[in-house]
Amino acid sequence: MKKVTISDLTDIEKKMLDKAMISRNNGYAPYSDFKVGASLLSEKGNIYIGCNVESVDFTLTTHAEINAIDAMITGGERKIEKILVTMKADSGYGMPCGLCRQKMLEFALKDMEIIGVTLDKKDKIRDIYRTTIEEILPYPFKPEHVKKIEKKPKNN
Ligand code: THU
Ligand code: ZN
Repeated sequence: MKKVTISDLTDIEKKMLDKAMISRNNGYAPYSDFKVGASLLSEKGNIYIGCNVESVDFTLTTHAEINAIDAMITGGERKIEKILVTMKADSGYGMPCGLCRQKMLEFALKDMEIIGVTLDKKDKIRDIYRTTIEEILPYPFKPEHVKKIEKKPKNN
């Protein structure tokens, strides 16, 4: 995981950041008071966004990254080039949770990047980290695992 600054971001990444900040503001988090915004760049160059949406039945809560991915699927696409998330953090990094990492892997292009942007109390950018799915989800359970089993000839 590499710490970067805003000037290290490409133009498209800056656009992703703006969109993730806006979607974070739209987050519905009355129970945790912890809003999260996500934006992803698809293989075709489109940006899809998501925010977290909580529910009084906590199990119905959906994560920002998962909503952005589902928006991409709804838009007819299947591959993620990179994904950016933004959330508050007193110190250190802000990165997608384990569930979101697994969900991303399903649609990740090789070397998919993850950019984690942390905000301070006043919603100002504190830190930016850049990493890859390989780095934050080592030894993953992959779609190939299931597909290989499906293709095995039945011998019983
Ligand atoms: N949350 C996300 O949206 N993405 C993550 O990967 C981490 C957690 C949300 C879920 C919940 O609404 C709030 O953050 C606190 O867990
Ligand atoms: Zn998550």
